[in-house]
Amino acid sequence: MKRAKLSLPNNYYHLASLAFCVFVISLFVSTSSHEEEQVEVGYGYRVRSVGTSTTDSSGMSSSLTAHLQLIKKSSLLGPDIQNLNLLASSGSFETSDRLRIRITDADHQRWEIPQQVLPRPSHQPPPQNSFLSHPTSDLTFSLHHTTPFVFTVSRRSSADTLFHTSNSGESLLVFKDQYLQISSFLPASRSSLYGLGEHTKKSFKLAHNQTLTLWNADIGSANPDLNLYGSHPFYIDVRSPDSEGRVVAGTTHGVLLLNSNGMDIVYTGDSITYKVIGGVLDFYFFAGPTPKLVMEQYTDLIGRPAPMPYWSFGFHQCRWGYKNVSDVEGVVSGYAEAGIPLEVMWTDIDYMDGYKDFTLDPINFPSDQMKKFVDTLHHNGQKYVLILDPGISVNETYGTYIRGMQADIFIKRDGVPYLGQVWPGPVYYPDFLNSGGGIFWGDEINRFQNLLPFDGLWLDMNELSNFISSSPSPFSTLDDPPYKINNSGAQRPINERTVPATSLHFANISEYNVHNLYGLLESIATNQALVKVTGKRPFILSRSTFVGSGKYTAHWTGDNAATWDDLAYSIPSILNFGLFGIPMVGADICGFSGNTSKELCQRWIQLGAFYPFARDHSAKDTTRQELYLWDSVAATARKVLGLRYRLLPYFYMLMYEAHTKGTPVARPLFFSFAQDVATYEINSQFLIGKGVMVSPTLKPGAISVDAYFPTGNWFDLFNYSNSLSVNNGKYFTLDAPPDHINIHVREGNIIAMQGEAMTTEAARKTPFQLLVVVSSSENSTGEVFLDDGEELEMGKKGGMWTLVRFHGRVVRNMVIVETEVVNGEFALSQKWIIDKVTCIGLKRVQVLKGYKLITSSRLKMHGNSSIWTSFDDGGEFVTVEMSGMSLLMGEEFKLELN
Ligand code: GLC
Repeated sequence: MKRAKLSLPNNYYHLASLAFCVFVISLFVSTSSHEEEQVEVGYGYRVRSVGTSTTDSSGMSSSLTAHLQLIKKSSLLGPDIQNLNLLASSGSFETSDRLRIRITDADHQRWEIPQQVLPRPSHQPPPQNSFLSHPTSDLTFSLHHTTPFVFTVSRRSSADTLFHTSNSGESLLVFKDQYLQISSFLPASRSSLYGLGEHTKKSFKLAHNQTLTLWNADIGSANPDLNLYGSHPFYIDVRSPDSEGRVVAGTTHGVLLLNSNGMDIVYTGDSITYKVIGGVLDFYFFAGPTPKLVMEQYTDLIGRPAPMPYWSFGFHQCRWGYKNVSDVEGVVSGYAEAGIPLEVMWTDIDYMDGYKDFTLDPINFPSDQMKKFVDTLHHNGQKYVLILDPGISVNETYGTYIRGMQADIFIKRDGVPYLGQVWPGPVYYPDFLNSGGGIFWGDEINRFQNLLPFDGLWLDMNELSNFISSSPSPFSTLDDPPYKINNSGAQRPINERTVPATSLHFANISEYNVHNLYGLLESIATNQALVKVTGKRPFILSRSTFVGSGKYTAHWTGDNAATWDDLAYSIPSILNFGLFGIPMVGADICGFSGNTSKELCQRWIQLGAFYPFARDHSAKDTTRQELYLWDSVAATARKVLGLRYRLLPYFYMLMYEAHTKGTPVARPLFFSFAQDVATYEINSQFLIGKGVMVSPTLKPGAISVDAYFPTGNWFDLFNYSNSLSVNNGKYFTLDAPPDHINIHVREGNIIAMQGEAMTTEAARKTPFQLLVVVSSSENSTGEVFLDDGEELEMGKKGGMWTLVRFHGRVVRNMVIVETEVVNGEFALSQKWIIDKVTCIGLKRVQVLKGYKLITSSRLKMHGNSSIWTSFDDGGEFVTVEMSGMSLLMGEEFKLELN
């Protein structure tokens, strides 16, 4: 392919900034001979005409269309598309925070993700009068050159160039039938990228000079850098300040390339290049300008994360290789006897008869024993989740298979169902693009639920995984496309151990185009089925995911290994899924493949207890790793799960925040400290919510840990002492004896906690404790969201729920804690009380002697220090604990302490 070369002046960012004008989408067509002369016209497209741009009443242009024409053909990588349409839209056509740039074939319809799979707003102009209500977007689109076609996306407020589609030495835009390429410059020294998964990475911040391949594959997550189970062509770019001081540190935007085809994304640091093997170029830019706002804007487009049932925040135990019902029962009693909370017991494929979905092994997991087992779990307030694989065993005596054949819902190749191989041997795969496939699946789930009342479903092998690789159809450019993505890190054929690309789904849609969507489609069908069958909030755990999966499912990071490296990798992986809009995520605690060790398992439960989704899981034939098997691990598990269970209302509140705003539960430090550029590099610590920081020990033999603390006062959440006062973010070496993980809470937070218990149901019955981490420089805030934990919707209008916001401040030597209650009736009906208020972070001069409680604007009671205990942490701060109180959760109150 002949390459067009574009030489830009040294300060091309400055040049680009000249293109800005007052329009939201501004048109800058450079025809100046000076600039044109620098462009060696080669392969690429030119702007033939610019179509209408719609202008709103304030003079802002909200959409622009243009026709692009190929300048010169290239014979490499298949035929070129001659004419392209460009549509750039924002403001009234999208939202004020989102800019969409779509480039597609002007003459032929190409593959795009259907609306019913990923609903998104159409770009129809809204009624005229709604223009007025849209604030101005901070994102501007500029046609930077017409020949060749180059565009930029910039931030109006700071003139920072966010995307600039040229890449010296590379073609500017390639648009062929099976190969699309587009690049952007990036300012390497001040752009930090995160996302573009799913891959296992040492570093959360994407390292320079790497190729990220997106093609869903059953490749164990113990393999760093390879394409894994899911595809998320989304990144956030956190910017450091520019030399002119116009860009504030932490200014963040997001970029999604909405495309389901296989792709390589080459990231060098100063450029990003997408090499995509089909579909269209459909970019969405999210203005931020904070990481939190990017997530709100991104999940507004792709769907907000599904609410997860309250119980799913309890601890889960699983293993591949449980022998029979009594083996599983023994595990449940092992936890009970050890006094370690166990919320959910899982069974892997072992429960099935010959690995056939929706069946029970009549010898080892017979239905009468299984029913009794599940009833006992339910009686004890525990839950049961089981695995399903998509491959349906080809077996004429198997009801599910017979019904699937009758409904004609399997993926086909050459006119007959495609025959793959998975655990049961030969299988056919249901086609979830076919509505009949969803109906079939839902019907099987319903039948099985009638047999065994499971509480949630685990969807595995849905990449799709296949134990065989079928040979390509002769001369098919689908099975053997001209550009080879870096599948498996070795340019393996895209058909390797999956359903071949020439297989057909409903309406003759090729597997080539929808391969990456299978896990999403299966999650949608399963979610719909569970809603229908149980009427409760579904809990689904899917291995394969795509953009939008978070609206239906949780995710675990797949087959990791019981190694110290894998323990460390779990942090970037979990943080990434928060960015992908799938906040309910965890890694297999103690490691999946290989034998774990006592020390590794002890460290892993310390970290895993603070994953949003906490499950111990291991592979067949490895050593057993239930937490009660070693005394030291059991003791640690009691300690860390004890804290997790006390924090359940906090986790659940974060679920509510995720569901309503898209904010991750487990967050990178820069979500709260974006102005602190040192946080951009951190891989081994994370935040739960805004103010609880987890600093795990990730090395064998270590008894201390180096942890970064951003500015503020931090307190050990286990004992409220060992405070750290940090003026300017820095590293501390903290003690980390084998039984301890460092968890700190920062000043400015109020956390509603409950008591420890063996189940979430029992924990929810304990009184609340309010932990007020006072601050002399800022207000303290916190929230709690309360509902029954399994109502279908979370926070639905008119639903049974309560939201309580806590505000704390220090006025001279007085601490004031006030509540603001939304829908108090639900909480009041549950008779929840706050029986303890703990204030930490008090300065010695703020020694409190009494309190005044005001509810409904009348003085309700006085108290004095007789019910108080104060603790001196030996440092700067004092803790005061008031117990025996009975503040009603759901009633507004003001508590004055002085
Ligand atoms: C896959 C899953 C793993 C499961 C195993 C057996 O490897 O990722 O979690 O245990 O299959 O079903």
